[in-house]
Amino acid sequence: MKNILVTGAVGQIGSELTMELRKRFGNDNVVAGFHRTKPGDILKNSGPCEMVDCTNFEQVKDVVKKYNIDTIYHLAAILSAVAEAKPNLAWNVNINALYNVLEVAREHGCAVFTPSSIGAFGESTPLDNTPQDTIQRPSTMYGVTKVAGELLCDYYFKRFGVDTRGVRYPGIISNETLPGGGTTDYAVEIYYEAIKNKKYTCNLGKGTFLDMMYMPDAIKAAIDLMEADPAKLKHRNAFNVTAMSFDPEMIAASIKKIIPEFELEYDVDPVRQAIANSWPNSMDDSAAREEWGWKPEYDLEAMTKDMLDVLSKKIK
Ligand code: SER
Repeated sequence: MKNILVTGAVGQIGSELTMELRKRFGNDNVVAGFHRTKPGDILKNSGPCEMVDCTNFEQVKDVVKKYNIDTIYHLAAILSAVAEAKPNLAWNVNINALYNVLEVAREHGCAVFTPSSIGAFGESTPLDNTPQDTIQRPSTMYGVTKVAGELLCDYYFKRFGVDTRGVRYPGIISNETLPGGGTTDYAVEIYYEAIKNKKYTCNLGKGTFLDMMYMPDAIKAAIDLMEADPAKLKHRNAFNVTAMSFDPEMIAASIKKIIPEFELEYDVDPVRQAIANSWPNSMDDSAAREEWGWKPEYDLEAMTKDMLDVLSKKIK
């Protein structure tokens, strides 16, 4: 029997991952861990919810003991643009909280899923077809915490045998919960604005290519990796995973096929643009495909169709 804790369960990925895990493993076996933002009705009414500030070791330990947790999906994190504005907070949440989770996992024998990111790369990384194992010298606080997190998780596996696993997520596009302060957020907002105003002003410039993925694939990646046969995993904590790579013009063109009057304008944010320029244009995810059968379902056209379908019903 699995007993799962999801930290950051009210966040963009957490809110949907928690519900999928409840569907697969039983509502009562998946604890939604939240901190500042309280869970909404869907999370609250479908299973256990607990306040867990992961920067507080005792709070993590108490929840793991109370529910006899054996698997932690540790999603509580600060995204890239907020991390640049508040580097101290980013270090505390992305590193100190992760350390607490790993320590509790070591003491209580839990498996741990930790997302890394395309942000774990930097300018000196080959930015096209970015290899699985390559130079990682990120220039952002977000990137520094992500690389350190990858290494820390590897260390806990090698040194203590903690079953740590993780992926390097690209920008994640979804229609349930908005992302909070990332560089790839434009690729979510553009769909909301396409429905609301048929117009969007993008904070990244034309020609800014980044890896992206639709939420159903992001959830599948996390669960498939955690369920994968450990004997087949050569890498553990930082699998490149991607589903598509596009720039703002390409996503706008896919929207225009459904909403022909949609217009895209630009007002570039220099902070986000500098971050995006230091990230891969497209990653090579062949290690994930070979070691645990990673294969995304949604490309840009399929995602745009689904996003616009869902949002047109949601936004009146
Ligand atoms: N979506 C994230 C961000 O933009 C990337 O990991 O910060």
